Amino acid sequence: MTSYTPSLAVALLATLATAGLVYPDCNKGPLKSNLVNAPGFQKLGLSAYQWWNEALHGVAHNRGITWGGNFNTATQFPQAITSGAAFDDDLVEQIGIAISTEARAFANSGRAHLDFWTPDVNPFRDPRWGRGHETPGEDALRNGRFAEAFIRGMQGTASTLRVIATCKHFAAYDLEATGSTTRFNFDAKVSTQDLAEYYLPPFQGCARDARAGSVMCSYNAVNGVPACANSYLMQTILRQHWNWTDQNQYIVSDCDAVYYLGNANGGHRYKSSYPQAIGAAFQAGTDNICWATGGTAPDPLAAFNQKQFTQANLDQMIVRQYQALIRAGYFDGSDGAYRNLGVSDVNTPRAQDLALKAAVEGTVLLKNDNLLPMNITGPGNTVAMIGFWASKADEMLGGYSGSPPFSHDPVWAAKQMGMTVNYATGPVVEENIDTSTAVAVAQKSKVIIYFGGIDNTVEKEGTDRTSISWPSGQLALIKKLAGLGKPVIVVKMGTHVDDTPILDLPNVKAIIWAGYPGQDGGTAVMQIITGAAAPAGRLPMTMYPADYANKASQTNMALRPSGSYPGRTYRWYQGAVFPFGHGLHYTNFTIAIGDFPFAFSIQALVNLCAEAYLDRCPFRTLPIVVTNTGSYTSDYVALAFVTGNYGPSPFPIKTLATYKRVFGVASGQSQNASLSWTLGSIARVDATGSRILYPGTYTLLIDQPTAANITFMLTGSEVMLDTWPQPDNGYG
Ligand SMILES: *[C@@H]1O[C@H](CO)[C@@H](O)[C@H](O)[C@H]1NC(C)=O
Ligand SMILES: *[C@@H]1O[C@H](CO)[C@@H](O)[C@H](O)[C@H]1NC(C)=O
Ligand SMILES: *[C@@H]1O[C@H](CO)[C@@H](O)[C@H](O)[C@H]1NC(C)=O
Ligand SMILES: *[C@@H]1O[C@H](CO)[C@@H](O)[C@H](O)[C@H]1NC(C)=O
Ligand SMILES: *[C@@H]1O[C@H](CO)[C@@H](O)[C@H](O)[C@H]1NC(C)=O
Repeated sequence: MTSYTPSLAVALLATLATAGLVYPDCNKGPLKSNLVNAPGFQKLGLSAYQWWNEALHGVAHNRGITWGGNFNTATQFPQAITSGAAFDDDLVEQIGIAISTEARAFANSGRAHLDFWTPDVNPFRDPRWGRGHETPGEDALRNGRFAEAFIRGMQGTASTLRVIATCKHFAAYDLEATGSTTRFNFDAKVSTQDLAEYYLPPFQGCARDARAGSVMCSYNAVNGVPACANSYLMQTILRQHWNWTDQNQYIVSDCDAVYYLGNANGGHRYKSSYPQAIGAAFQAGTDNICWATGGTAPDPLAAFNQKQFTQANLDQMIVRQYQALIRAGYFDGSDGAYRNLGVSDVNTPRAQDLALKAAVEGTVLLKNDNLLPMNITGPGNTVAMIGFWASKADEMLGGYSGSPPFSHDPVWAAKQMGMTVNYATGPVVEENIDTSTAVAVAQKSKVIIYFGGIDNTVEKEGTDRTSISWPSGQLALIKKLAGLGKPVIVVKMGTHVDDTPILDLPNVKAIIWAGYPGQDGGTAVMQIITGAAAPAGRLPMTMYPADYANKASQTNMALRPSGSYPGRTYRWYQGAVFPFGHGLHYTNFTIAIGDFPFAFSIQALVNLCAEAYLDRCPFRTLPIVVTNTGSYTSDYVALAFVTGNYGPSPFPIKTLATYKRVFGVASGQSQNASLSWTLGSIARVDATGSRILYPGTYTLLIDQPTAANITFMLTGSEVMLDTWPQPDNGYG
């Protein structure tokens, strides 16, 4: 890079521009005879560029994206919590390919840019979190593998990136607001062990292993230092320990995060002025400051003039951002890779099929008293469809949505299937609402399907819930419906509500969880109810009892229980209403484990490994035979948990080590599958955050509840797979 004027260059460090994408012309424009030395300069042929584009589950409505003309819709996949429940990495990669193909088509038409701030892979630690549904769930390994698959899909594996994807929110971000604590001032106190074992593995998968082009630092502070000024997180862990520097990847702040790390009201007050805050962010490794309408616009030039950051910082930040654009073919000209993608690549039949497939795969059957599947299509089979999302498709999308090409809600789907439907809406949060219409339509029907739970008006960005109970107005209606002497099916959307009060209602014979199933969610749910598709999704998060909200303070980041604090997630919390991994089928499976050696030498395993990071070393694949002993063809998700006697006491708790979705096991048939896993997934994380493979006796438990198990031994001496950098004096 040659010299340039800082005053112009610094403008590029903030996400301010609003114009649509204009590719530079390197053949005829001024760039032909100039080095790229000053971004955003019209005289060089570089137009303003908006880094802020969203696509968590489809191209979304936000600042960088201009909808309209032929581009007034884009495929809206299920939100990540539902895709997460499918436990199908290939599905996630295919969704990433479909989203980035559409995103690139928008960009090629000047309607979006090349950077997309997705995926959200923070583990869903607390059931009240308003953005938990944007994530694949509560498990660190699952979120890491989801992130890897999604990044592979979004960016592609070719030398030119289809788009640049962003792992967010780095790190330990999972709280919006509780009391006077908000995401803008929350200081998450996280032990080094919990950081390495739980909060960071999704980012390790996303950044270190899948090489995402960018990472977003979060609003919160971690152990006293705001994430966007946290050099331990951004330099020591992300850039040095994970080697995330080879392609000049860049870090962007969450929008207004740098404003709130300074002296802004309601923020961290970590610095006493905005220019100092900007300097702290840039010096700690942030390259781009996003500004939203909530905060004051950043003024990087003032910070530069006050010497809050250096010319060398500035050069590096600009290089990183433009390197990302170079990798995405921004300067490649109209014959560059992916420049041919256009409107005909948006809303393709294949993408529509994938959105439906994802919704079907991610739907979880929580309870079934021999009611489902149910043929309710014939004459005389009237079905009452009641509740707030029975006929309101937009509810199915969740946060960060775009406009779908169609919205197939359950009532629409039922009518397509030839059902005689009696519809009535119902409350979301309202208390004393008149439900007489709902009861009347139920009375004249043979079967009642209630569509409730919570939606994106209740759990949303900026807001956390205080209760994880069923909203009382809905519960009252379900009780009335259950009192009519007819079978009731409850189909839940949203994330956590405690099903305890409806589990024992005599006529509530089946409960289905659909999360945020996307544009074809109604079809997916009705296909499952009727048996046109078989349910095989698994809960990607613990269902806590309502009382959990009184026992665990939302600000307590600790995972392990202590005293009256109950701990978090399936690993540490006892007493779930339904555990992580719960999910029923229309059939029964038996699982057999194939030939697997009894003893392995740790040294041999490590010596045979060619991976740069030892935790990535493959372990011997585990062969299983899945036999369908029932009468419906069905997918089966093999979840494999590890436990045993190895390493220091107390011995390790049951932990997900790997999983695999097995497709279409026919009634009466068996299918072989092999589970791939790594040494890292059976290692333990010690108090210093290091990951160690111990000799000892290991037990692998297949399924939740356990359907098969195998014991094996690792012999020899322990091996350090990953020596975790300590937060020393250089912290922050
Ligand atoms: C459902 O029932 C109707 C009428 O009772 C019948 O015509 C139809 O074949 C049934 N469908 C299935 C899939 O069994
Ligand atoms: C599964 O097996 C149990 C016990 O053997 C049986 O009661 C149940 O009906 C079976 N379920 C299905 C769907 O075949
Ligand atoms: C399936 O696995 C079983 C047990 O490991 C093995 O005996 C059988 O040969 C395998 N079948 C196929 C088709 O690979
Ligand atoms: C990290 O990057 C450096 C320099 O690019 C390289 O020499 C080293 O092998 C990398 N380490 C790993 C584990 O990839
Ligand atoms: C493991 O399987 C054996 C039967 O093969 C059974 O006796 C034992 O209880 C199982 N252990 C666990 C922890 O499920």
